[in-house]
Amino acid sequence: MDTQKSDMPMARRNRVISKPARTTLDAARSADGLNDRFFRQMVFNLRNGVLAITRDGRIAAMNENAYRVLGLPPRSGDLGRPFSEVLQGCPEVTRILLSAFDSDDLPNRAEMRLRKTGKAIGYTLSRIHDDDGKQIGATLFFKDLTRVEQLEERERLRDRLATLGEMAAAIAHEVKNPLASIEVMAGMLKRQLRDRTDAHETLNDIIKECKMANAIVVEVLEFVRPIQLQVDGVSLVEVIKESITAAESKMPRGTIQIDTIIDPDVPELQADEHQLRQLFINLLTNAFDALGGKGRIEMRARLEAGDEDQLMGVDPPAPQVVIDIRDNGPGISADDLERVFSPFFTTKPQGTGLGLAIVRKVVDAHDGRINATSAPGRTTFSVTLPVVPSTGSNQGV
Ligand SMILES: Nc1ncnc2c1ncn2[C@@H]1O[C@H](COP(=O)(O)OP(=O)(O)O)[C@@H](O)[C@H]1O
Ligand SMILES: [Mg+2]
Repeated sequence: MDTQKSDMPMARRNRVISKPARTTLDAARSADGLNDRFFRQMVFNLRNGVLAITRDGRIAAMNENAYRVLGLPPRSGDLGRPFSEVLQGCPEVTRILLSAFDSDDLPNRAEMRLRKTGKAIGYTLSRIHDDDGKQIGATLFFKDLTRVEQLEERERLRDRLATLGEMAAAIAHEVKNPLASIEVMAGMLKRQLRDRTDAHETLNDIIKECKMANAIVVEVLEFVRPIQLQVDGVSLVEVIKESITAAESKMPRGTIQIDTIIDPDVPELQADEHQLRQLFINLLTNAFDALGGKGRIEMRARLEAGDEDQLMGVDPPAPQVVIDIRDNGPGISADDLERVFSPFFTTKPQGTGLGLAIVRKVVDAHDGRINATSAPGRTTFSVTLPVVPSTGSNQGV
């Protein structure tokens, strides 16, 4: 008796819930003239990826975002085609869709990485029921989380650098003073031993090594020091011009030709001029190194519309300036290319491996991106910086 009592209200409650929901929708449809076309537009205009399949395995809906995130070319003829055919190359997505028909436990806010595009997506899987409660299909809602992941990674790096940085900065300061003393004393000794030319060579070597060790300490300090951005209006033409002069003073340019092409619509940037100069100097000195005194460097800047991936709820996407720094040197091997931005990665006997790590840090602090591609005779570092109005606040990294 007891069991019956408790079962009854449950069943009644279920019936009560499902009925008005459908009635409300029907009423709304007839009252506002909402037809299938409206719902179709709604699905296709969602800013998430939407992918729906029918019980018999055909594509019922797939919006543009779904194609983009999955890395598939959009084709209008895909509606009605078997989803296993349309989603070829995305077996993990096919598997998830299928699980909607045979699993009781549907994932809500799950995440996975797409093998085809390398993108990380967050997704929710839902069943589609008809009026009688029969399952007639499944829908996958998903969002590209790659940018979110990048921001989280940046946050982690920021934390790690903050702790490590304090320690490294303290050590670097301690080392800097004795280094300077050694250099000064070697100079004094050289003067005292004016007649002992045999000793001069050794003393010159000591001075040279001191200078080099000091340069490493300065770079380490530059790398670990938290950036306090001093944001102001910056003319890219000016910064690039000054960076070329500064790079030349650091390293002989030889006969290297440098072409600077800045599109006239590239606006003034809201950025830290000193940091940007540092960024270009590091990229230029690397190109000088790679070219060994002869060759060509091209610096090109253009304005681009912001990409959707950057949206993150900000509407519309901010335009961005892309600066390509290209040289026709020997290039970087595929293996090395993956590591060039890592601190202390260098292929040079006298290198610190911090130049590009600093470049990336500066780009991150400006909420930009950096990308490197290379083939023999064509190495390009692309820096993308958002064009945003100044908020006036300084940002620590
Ligand atoms: N334009 C370039 N052409 C070829 N190799 C490059 C170029 N820029 C960077 N690299 C490679 O990336 C490595 C790391 O560069 P960087 O971080 O500036 O450190 P470093 O210059 O001290 O070696 C270099 O040692 C070099 O192997
Ligand atoms: Mg370098």
